[in-house]
Amino acid sequence: MSIAILAIETSCDETAVAVVEDGVRVLADSVHSQVPDHRKYGGVVPEVASRRHLETVNPLMEEALARAGLGWPRVGAVAVTYGPGLVGALLVGVTAAKALAFALERPLVGVNHLEGHVYANFLVRPDLRFPLLALVVSGGHTDLVLMAGHGRFALVGGTRDDAAGEAFDKVARLLDLGYPGGPAIEKAGAGIDPGAVSLPRAYLEPGSLDFSFSGLKTAAARLKQRGLSPGVIAAAFQRAVVDVLVDKTMTAAGRYGVGTVLLAGGVAANGLLRSGLADRAEAAGLSFGCPPRRLCTDNAAMIGCAAYYRFLRGDFAGLDLNAVPGLALGD
Ligand code: KG4
Ligand code: ZN
Repeated sequence: MSIAILAIETSCDETAVAVVEDGVRVLADSVHSQVPDHRKYGGVVPEVASRRHLETVNPLMEEALARAGLGWPRVGAVAVTYGPGLVGALLVGVTAAKALAFALERPLVGVNHLEGHVYANFLVRPDLRFPLLALVVSGGHTDLVLMAGHGRFALVGGTRDDAAGEAFDKVARLLDLGYPGGPAIEKAGAGIDPGAVSLPRAYLEPGSLDFSFSGLKTAAARLKQRGLSPGVIAAAFQRAVVDVLVDKTMTAAGRYGVGTVLLAGGVAANGLLRSGLADRAEAAGLSFGCPPRRLCTDNAAMIGCAAYYRFLRGDFAGLDLNAVPGLALGD
C-alpha cells in the first residue's frame, strides 16, 4: 500500500510544504522563499524568519494538498524538520506538524534537516547503494558523511570555522554582490579565468578531512583592497573552495572504500562543484549523484523522502517532539 507523507520544512528562511508518495513521487512541492524579506539586512534575521513562517505555513499546507489533489484523509503521515536550524523558525514547523498529526490521528515523523539534504538524492535515485559518502554543503554545514545504510550516518569530516555556504555569503557581501551569496558569486565569476589571482587552499594537517574557509575570506578582502574586480575575486574564490571540497571528498571516498559519492545542500547547486566532483568521481570509477538544482536548496520534498525511510523503520516521533537547533546527523 502506498503512503502519502505531508512534509513541513521551516528551519531557516524558506517555508516549504510537500506531499511525497512512497519517498519517490512528489505530488506537491511548495516553497515560499523569504529572500526578499531578508535581503535588505544582508542575511537572515531570525525574528523576521519566525514571523514569516507563522504567516505562511498554514496557507502553504492547504496549497500543497490542493496541488497534490488529495483531501486531508489521504495524508498517511506528517513529517517535519526538527533541527538543526533557527529555534524560532523550527518551532513554527514543529508545532504545525504536531497539531496536524494530532488532528488527523496520523503518525508524526521528525527529520534532521541535513538528513533531508542527503535524501534529496534518494528522491530521484531510490536505488542508490551503500556504503556511500555524501558531501553536505549548505549555509550552516560542510560535512563529509559516511552512510552505511538508511538512517546510518557517521560524520568523518567537517568545517572548523565557516561553512562553505557561509563563506560564499560573506565574500559576496564583501564584494557587494548581494544575498544569497552563492548564486551571486557564481554569476559574477562566470567566464572569468579563476587563475588570474591566487588564493590559498587550506588543507590543514596531512590527511585531514576537515575544512577551514575563514582564511580564504580574509584573503579575498586583501584582494579587494588591492583593487581587483569583484568578478576576478569571485572566480578565484569559487575555484579555491571547490578545489578543497572536491579533493577532500575524493580522499574520504578512497579511505572508506565507498562505491558512490553524493553531493547535497544548497552549495550543491554550484555548477563548478557539480561538474568538478562528477568528473573526479567518474575518473576514479565511482558512481556520482547530485539532486537537480531545485532540490539542492531548502525544500520539503527532501524531508518527505527522508521521512518515508523513517516511516518504514517505524521511527516515529511523539507529540512531545521539540525543536533541536544544534541537532547533529546520527543523533
Ligand atoms: O541548504 P540551503 O538552502 O540552506 C541551509 O540549510 O543553509 O543552503 C543555502 C546556502 C547559502 O549559503 C547559499 O549562498 C548557498 O547555499 N548556495 C550556493 C549556490 N546556491 C545556493 N553556493 C554556491 N553556488 C550556488 N549556486
Ligand atoms: Zn538546508
